[in-house]
This record gives sequence, structure tokens and C-alpha cells, in this order.
Amino acid sequence: MPRAIVVHEWGGPQVLKLEDLPRPVPKDDEVLIRVRAASINPLDWKIREGARRANFSTPYYPGCDVAGTVEEAGAAVKAFKVGDAVYSMIGRSGGYAEYALAKAELVAPKPAGLDFAHAGAVPLAALTAWQMLIENGNLKAGQRVLVHAAAGGVGGYAVQMARYLGAYVIGTASARNHDYLHGIGAQETIDYNTERFESVVRDIDLVIDLMAGEVQQRSWGVIKRGGTLVCALGPPDSAQAAAAGVNAKAQSVRPDGAQLRQIGSLIDVGRIKVELAASFPLEKAVDAHRLSETGHVRGKIVLTMPAN
Ligand SMILES: NC(=O)c1ccc[n+]([C@@H]2O[C@H](COP(=O)([O-])OP(=O)(O)OC[C@H]3O[C@@H](n4cnc5c(N)ncnc54)[C@H](OP(=O)(O)O)[C@@H]3O)[C@@H](O)[C@H]2O)c1
Repeated sequence: MPRAIVVHEWGGPQVLKLEDLPRPVPKDDEVLIRVRAASINPLDWKIREGARRANFSTPYYPGCDVAGTVEEAGAAVKAFKVGDAVYSMIGRSGGYAEYALAKAELVAPKPAGLDFAHAGAVPLAALTAWQMLIENGNLKAGQRVLVHAAAGGVGGYAVQMARYLGAYVIGTASARNHDYLHGIGAQETIDYNTERFESVVRDIDLVIDLMAGEVQQRSWGVIKRGGTLVCALGPPDSAQAAAAGVNAKAQSVRPDGAQLRQIGSLIDVGRIKVELAASFPLEKAVDAHRLSETGHVRGKIVLTMPAN
């Protein structure tokens, strides 16, 4: 029987259990994906520890995004056929599994130059960056962007996409990640351990806020009047935004197959690279969560599953 990770009670990484589950059956508008890689996102362990219990119930099947091959296509699916290599943000659950269901509209062809592990590291984090910069941030060429937590899963894509869009990109990270950030396109880096970013940057058009809290409070003063802060950790402080004359927006990532196709074409031409920090077999999901929870991973972590 196919295996999947299941959470029966909220708690620490040890509540992630590997179990045998029946193979899912796709509805007419769905594809069944034979998963070869599924990425870890901080959301997964926030849900696992019970921080989202108002919106999720047990049994909870973690995993938002996958890369693999189409095993079966629903009767109404025209865009994919059995055997196609694909990737997808399938939603907010079900990815840590040997088989996963996805609505066909949320699926895109796997970028040809990526193996499954690297492709699995793309969907949710890259879609978040794309939507923060383009939909919420309305970023234009020539603007100045400050990316907080630039070396993380979302931040690394945000740096590369902002640069592709013609922005001037400044990223915060610890010093050991600065060469990496320059290598993916950041023009300036700030070591948040030794420098206060608000002392060294100003006239920012867009802040990509992947930290919230005190980092957000210190960000208002570096943004131009009329500029924007987009936060991925809940609604930003609207009173502080108004006092600074700045737009404040909250990001909640939306699965989107069409955007994944666009992102995939940028990967295909080498404009976006995928940084993989670690890969673990599915049965080591506990270790993968422990690593993600350190909060200091560069790029992404994936779980991998064998072809057969
Ligand atoms: N709302 C949404 O739709 C949405 C979507 C995706 C993610 N998120 C949230 O956004 C946050 C970031 O996600 P992620 O996947 O990018 O996380 P991640 O990959 O775990 O981020 C790790 C990175 O954070 C950096 N970091 C830690 N403390 C920092 C600080 N004080 N200043 C600057 N950088 C710091 C680390 O760099 P160093 O090692 O150099 O410290 C590391 O590279 C998470 O809280 C996640 O839940 C929300």
C-alpha cells in the first residue's frame, strides 16, 4: 500500500507518523500524482504543532507542494496525460505521500532542467514570492526592494524575481549567506546580527516582510511615503502603516498552475535557480521538520520518494 505521513494529534515533530493508506482516486478535474519530492514549508510544522487548529483538524496530512509524474488523470483533464512530469502547490495538505491528488488547474509541467527534488522545492515558496512582489507589491523596474529573511525558502525566490523584474534588491541575512545572496542577484546585503537595517537603508519602495514582529516595526521608517510593505505572517499593523504614509498588505499564498508555468519558464531559461539545503527520505520527515524549525535554513528542504 502507498505510504503517507499522518498527524493524529497536534504536537512536536514526533507526531509525524508514516502509515499505509489506500491509493487516492482522482475526481474528473483532478490528477493523481506519483510523488517523487515534497517540500517542507514552515506552515506544515505550524499546523502540526496545533497553531492553526481553528482551520485544520486531525487526521492532518501535511505537505503543500509536490513534484512527480501523472499516474492517472480525471475524465475532464485535457492538459496532462499519464507519465507527464509535473509540479504543483496542491493546496495546504496531502503532499508528504507517495500519491497525491491535485486539481489539474493547479498543476504545471516540471521545469525540464530540474530533477524532481529541486522541482518539489519550488511551488509554494516561489508562488508566495511572485504574489508578494507582483500582485500585492505591484513592483516596477527601478524600484528599491528590501527582502527580510532573504536566504530562506521564500526570500531566495523573492530576491531572484525582484531582480528579474528590474528592481534594486537589498536582502537581510546572517553573514554566512551573503555570498549566496549576491550570487542570486542581491545588490546589497545586511547582516541582521551586526547591523540595524534601518541605519543603513532608506527610500525603499517595497518591503517583503517574512519576519513580522519587531522587524516589521523597524521597517516602516525605511519605506518611502506611498511605498508598500507586504507581510506573509498576518495583517501588518495598519495604524503604524498609516502613520508612516505607507500601504500595508497581507499575503496569503494562492495555489496557481498558470503562475507556476510562468515561474517554470524563468527556471528553464536560468533566471531563477533553486537552492536545496537538504533532502530526506519520506520516512525521515521528523528530521526534516526539526531542521526547518531551526529557522536558519538556506533555501529549501525536501522529502523524496523512490520511483517505484
Ligand atoms: N502567508 C503566506 O502565504 C506564507 C507563505 C510562505 C511562507 N510564509 C511564512 O513566511 C515565513 C518565511 O517562510 P520561508 O519558507 O522563507 O521560511 P524559512 O525558509 O524557514 O526561512 C529561513 C530563513 O530565515 C532567515 N532568518 C531567520 N531570522 C532572521 C532575521 N532575524 N532576519 C533576517 N533573516 C532571518 C534565515 O537566514 P539566516 O540563516 O541567515 O539567519 C533563513 O535563511 C515563515 O514564517 C512562513 O510560515 C507565509
